[in-house]
Amino acid sequence: MTGLAKHTHWSKWKCPSNIALVKYWGKRDFQKPMNPSLSFVLQNAFTETSVELHKEGDQKVEFYFEGEISAFGSRIEKYLDHISTKFPWVNRYNFRIHSHNSFPHSAGIASSASSFGALALCLTELDFALLGKEPDTHEFWQKASELARIGSGSACRSVYSGFSIWGNTQLFESSSDDHAIALTEGVHRVFYGLRDAILMVDSGTKEVSSSVGHKLMDEHFYQRSRIAQAHENINELYLALLTGDPEKFVAVVENEALSLHAMMMTSNPSFLLLKPNSLELINRIRRFREKTQIPVCFTIDAGPNIHLLYFQENEMDVKAFIERELLAFCENGKWIDDQIGRGPERLIN
Ligand code: PMV
Repeated sequence: MTGLAKHTHWSKWKCPSNIALVKYWGKRDFQKPMNPSLSFVLQNAFTETSVELHKEGDQKVEFYFEGEISAFGSRIEKYLDHISTKFPWVNRYNFRIHSHNSFPHSAGIASSASSFGALALCLTELDFALLGKEPDTHEFWQKASELARIGSGSACRSVYSGFSIWGNTQLFESSSDDHAIALTEGVHRVFYGLRDAILMVDSGTKEVSSSVGHKLMDEHFYQRSRIAQAHENINELYLALLTGDPEKFVAVVENEALSLHAMMMTSNPSFLLLKPNSLELINRIRRFREKTQIPVCFTIDAGPNIHLLYFQENEMDVKAFIERELLAFCENGKWIDDQIGRGPERLIN
């Protein structure tokens, strides 16, 4: 990353979406997680956002999504209001923001992680430039992650490349509920060839939002056990990542995906986001693994779509399996071909 040109109150970033392997579900205080989570960033699913500061007119935020003025501007206005206690300069400017996603709105990919990630990176860059601070420092990325978290919890894991962890865990002294940390060292090379085939089961709007789901963890009967389980799973998964153990990886990742949905099914009131085709895909993925001994597994976000995870060396076999056996259970045969990503990028025009 290079420094911001002097006196330019403009910034533009590309930031990826991320997929959690150990899931964040349930909040404490303001946007802090009940349990630690671990994820990796995607490469092809990203948001590009530019922020221009100016002093014209009296509208605080003009927000354009895919070139059109969007109602999301009011959420950004609230967000800016919230962060102005930390960044007082926010009160001195009006904001013109343009945002674009690489994936269609209806793709079922949560766009809040990449959009708040990109916005937070722009704001952090502007903050550092206005204060004359050196960007591309540890402090820069940590600040960007914290700012992203305030917009949308899981967004704090989008500002790094590869794998990251958010939330206090005994694994790292530097882990924090305030921001994510990058897993930069020791991950076995096999995991840098991780692929994610996003199998679209239903692109419609979810019946229950993530924020309602998080809230239902406040009084959940299994709250304590879920927190304990997430800590245990993050330890196991980290060990699998270090030792290059695909079997352990598969076991933890599927356990986490189904535990997340088990929390939804057993909350009060209960809700169910999986569809018959989600279950069909899960069963077929497991059967394929048993039959071929190829290490594939699934993870699922708060929705019905299935992320089929596999390794680069098995790409040919897995893609043939998707075409042959899985596409029939996807909405209009739709799937997205993605993989572990290199993280955000500063854009210059
Ligand atoms: O960041 P939120 O509030 O949209 O919550 C996301 C929660 C999950 O995607 C289900 C899990 C996760 O860790 O990303």
